[in-house]
Amino acid sequence: MTIMSMNITEKSTPESNKITNILVLGATGGLGQIIVAKLIGENYKIITIVRNIEKAQKLFGDSANIQIFPGDVRQQKSLEKSLANQQIDATISCLGTTAFPSTRWWGGNNPENIDYLGNQNLINVMLPNLKRFILVSSLGVERSNQFPYKILNLFKVLDYKLKAENILKSSGLPYTIIRPGRLTDGPYTSYDLNTLINATSGNRKKIIISQGDKLLGETSRIIVAEACVEALKLDCTINQTFEIINQVGKDEISDNDKLLFWQTLFTKAQTNSNPDSK
Ligand SMILES: NC(=O)c1ccc[n+]([C@@H]2O[C@H](COP(=O)([O-])OP(=O)(O)OC[C@H]3O[C@@H](n4cnc5c(N)ncnc54)[C@H](OP(=O)(O)O)[C@@H]3O)[C@@H](O)[C@H]2O)c1
Repeated sequence: MTIMSMNITEKSTPESNKITNILVLGATGGLGQIIVAKLIGENYKIITIVRNIEKAQKLFGDSANIQIFPGDVRQQKSLEKSLANQQIDATISCLGTTAFPSTRWWGGNNPENIDYLGNQNLINVMLPNLKRFILVSSLGVERSNQFPYKILNLFKVLDYKLKAENILKSSGLPYTIIRPGRLTDGPYTSYDLNTLINATSGNRKKIIISQGDKLLGETSRIIVAEACVEALKLDCTINQTFEIINQVGKDEISDNDKLLFWQTLFTKAQTNSNPDSK
């Protein structure tokens, strides 16, 4: 089937309809907290594994839709223990640390151990019946020797992210890789679910989605969160990698046609990167 022959009005498919229980890693982070809030707002059941239970409970504690377990992604056994007997339909990983040395690297919490080996541990504990693994990566992973990514990659964060992407691709799990630019909006420090659910990116700048790692720019965390949540519902995003940025301008999207809006963006990105499929 060519991309253009896909039914653009097809809202969701039997496969994506079956997603109910979603594991989110990185839930206490700037992007992760918005993803979890969006998922709670849409009544999904969320499981999260965090290093700091108190921090997670402060953020999401009142919601009956989330189960919070302790764990550290550097220790595969802690993931296995928390996930024992849990039904997981899909996983979203927005794990990360700083690109440059900082206090967040203390104890070995550096890009090698989080972006690469941490994600590898997570992929290792997924069961083969997982319906989707969404990995948040970064623009520039295929251009880490070019400016400005050369600077960002001084401590190899982009190389480690690319390694994780490749492990995921060869895992056989149905995947979607989302590569944002430098993140804007949040992290939110007022730590309450309502603030997170209602967070908006102001005048909602125009969303550009592409393939082939050609974009340069910034991306709102709110838009990345929405991309991850909507990608879960769309089979056209299975086994695909997308870059995403915001530009000056505005996209009008109502809650009613949100899924169709994202389906059009994801599908167009594939058509543009693969013009022969027209
Ligand atoms: N920031 C940017 O400009 C940018 C640009 C492109 C791509 N990205 C990527 O986008 C994603 C989200 O970025 P962000 O800035 O919103 O994230 P963030 O705030 O840095 O959050 C990172 C998350 O990873 C968790 N984490 C770190 N080490 C862990 C460990 N050992 N075990 C379990 N969890 C651990 C953190 O938990 P704690 O709360 O316990 O620390 C936190 O929830 C990341 O993958 C990032 O690399 C970011």
